[in-house]
Amino acid sequence: MGWNSWNYFACNINETLIKETADALISTGLADLGYNYVNIDDCWEALTRDIQGHLVPESKTFPSGIKALADYVHEKNLKLGIYSSAGVFTCQVRPGSLFYENDDAATWASWGVDYLKYDNCFNLGIKPIDRYPPMRDALNSTGRKIFYSLCEWGEDDPALWAGNVGNSWRTTDDINDTWASMTSIADLNDKWAAYAGPGGWNDPDMLEVGNGGMTYLEYRSHFSIWALMKAPLLIGCDVRNMTAETFEILSNKEVIAVNQDPLGIQGRKVNATGTDGCLQVWAGPLSGNRFAVVLWNRCSEGGTINVSWDSIGLESSVSVSVRDIWKHENVVADAVASFGVHVDSHSCEMFVLTPKLSHSRV
Ligand code: DGJ
Repeated sequence: MGWNSWNYFACNINETLIKETADALISTGLADLGYNYVNIDDCWEALTRDIQGHLVPESKTFPSGIKALADYVHEKNLKLGIYSSAGVFTCQVRPGSLFYENDDAATWASWGVDYLKYDNCFNLGIKPIDRYPPMRDALNSTGRKIFYSLCEWGEDDPALWAGNVGNSWRTTDDINDTWASMTSIADLNDKWAAYAGPGGWNDPDMLEVGNGGMTYLEYRSHFSIWALMKAPLLIGCDVRNMTAETFEILSNKEVIAVNQDPLGIQGRKVNATGTDGCLQVWAGPLSGNRFAVVLWNRCSEGGTINVSWDSIGLESSVSVSVRDIWKHENVVADAVASFGVHVDSHSCEMFVLTPKLSHSRV
């Protein structure tokens, strides 16, 4: 969990923004909720390497250097993320790290970097499976713990090979701040659910919550489904200037707890009815024999959505208590076999189901 500069700021970044973002993560309480990584995306680098071939930050925008920024965020108990590309240039045509893996990993480790997002531009047509492992080895050989986030845009089905390469891998092309993009990415990411788990996560790209292109209810759906899918929760808006609604979504502790559940099993789409399957049930197991369920209405009108116990792997006869984790209320004490509610168009409702313990034998 953390924040990344790209979705809102693109190349308009500088060290003041990064520091103010770290400050805002603390002052809003988002850091305490788990958003700990402050990740700088493309455009932090100068256009060329220095005379020894090392990466250097753009001197106008990052005059104090990246080590000073890392020190700043570490003092606040946050972590710093950096960005490069497994190609000869980054997507915004700054120096890439292909063939410079050991040198660049050593540079980042010496600065105190905690996370690398490794993009896919200018890759010379070399397959990801050949370009991404060398950076894994280079990061490991620094001796510093650095989260390795593969950003290969789903090229060559990374879920099938990246489990022992990175800590997360992108399953799709870039998200944009629209309902159409967000829903299609959710479906693409769902295909790879079986391959994700603790230590290696499917990454359906960063959050757009708060960037203005979707409604409150659509953003709530976006956040709920990303949480259920155990996606990295990387905030992509300006946390220095969030609306109350944006903060309410991003700070929902119960939804975050689903995302961070120690079982780490990716929830999946388990049922789809209605026109083109737009009335959807997404669900997955949680620790303590519980289940998380999202009833997601992707239709253009409101409708009732039901989850049946057998669709999520529960015996129909089991009695379940149902908690609504957007309303923060226990809504039904003993549901048996199924449960359903009305869901507004483009909205979702999210629940945690806790089976009643069977009576203990004396
Ligand atoms: C493509 C990536 O997928 C985006 O997330 C972002 O990092 C841009 N490149 C930056 O150029």
